[in-house]
Amino acid sequence: QLNSLAPSPTPPMGWMSWYTFIDHINEKQIMEVADAMVSSGLRDAGYNLIQLDDGWMAKERDKEGRQYADKVRFPNGIKYLANYLHQKGLKLGIYSSNGSLTCAGYPGSYNHEEIDAKTYAEWGVDYLKYDACGKKEGHPDQELNMRMINAIKKTGRPMLYAVCVFGSNETHLWASKVATMWRTGGDIVQHIERNPIVTYKLWYTNLQQVIGKEAYAGNGHWNDPDNLIIGYPRNNEQTIEEQKAQFSFWSLIAAPLLLSVDVRAMDPKIKAIIMNKEVIAINQDKAGVQGSRLINDDDHEIWVKKLNDGSKAVILFNKKDVEAEIRLNLKDINEKGKVKVRDLWTKQNKTITSSLTSKVAPHGVVMFKINSFK
Ligand code: GLA
Repeated sequence: QLNSLAPSPTPPMGWMSWYTFIDHINEKQIMEVADAMVSSGLRDAGYNLIQLDDGWMAKERDKEGRQYADKVRFPNGIKYLANYLHQKGLKLGIYSSNGSLTCAGYPGSYNHEEIDAKTYAEWGVDYLKYDACGKKEGHPDQELNMRMINAIKKTGRPMLYAVCVFGSNETHLWASKVATMWRTGGDIVQHIERNPIVTYKLWYTNLQQVIGKEAYAGNGHWNDPDNLIIGYPRNNEQTIEEQKAQFSFWSLIAAPLLLSVDVRAMDPKIKAIIMNKEVIAINQDKAGVQGSRLINDDDHEIWVKKLNDGSKAVILFNKKDVEAEIRLNLKDINEKGKVKVRDLWTKQNKTITSSLTSKVAPHGVVMFKINSFK
């Protein structure tokens, strides 16, 4: 039995504060986000986690050595927020770091693992994202994460556990045995010190970093290429087709689906992407297979994921800056004869034999579910 803290048979889904609010988060916003998750239908579509990222804490610990929420921005404290979320059928996630300071300079959990785990459990926290910033005097990230995991287990409160260690490209080797999910690369948008222009190239870079790690995903353990940047609220220069492409890929590779959009004020086109139930179903497929890249040509890629019912999800990705026609040969995905093809974005059904050719938008995808006739 693997050391999972709370079961996560399919990839976690929710919203994370970092890309929406940076570290200027407060209780009022989070409660509004919770309300919007419910009223928009996002919660019922599966997005049931709200994760407070860096910046929720006061700059120092209290007299007992505990972390506590910033008193101005969270006047009622975290337990109150957890209750509010739980009443709405949502889970609360929180953030800390395995060093002395978090990445944005708040008190980290180094040498405070037990007291912090106990505090989170008392508050009713359901998920911890554990970062790797701050000084830790030569202790490896694996050891420090095990300290925190064991401390959480000791509390008896089931929590999901997200490891945020990247750079070495080895995190998956140990984290896949002990954690719910682990980052496979750097921040998808590095916005803390600058205001970057957000393009499809950002998610395309992070997508590459899960390739080769397919065997580590599944059974409640997931590679995490970082957030969805669909509807990212600043300098978002992505086309709708590019944002559909990120959603398609994150679903095909069984990545956690963590939103960055300000769900309180969503563009209907953005909402339609993240609420595509047939694409979400590919992400949440029971078999828990991370899809993989089958063809990597100069101007297009083909990716495939095996699904629990024996069918396959397929993505055709156009790398070019202009519309292109991409051909899928059934033999490339080990199919022959007649197959049923459903386009998961246009919702059209077709029956084809041997191959099909599709027009694909620049940096866009078409995504199919393919069933053979029995
Ligand atoms: C790191 C993490 C991000 C975010 C910030 C917060 O950069 O990778 O996801 O949590 O810290 O400071």
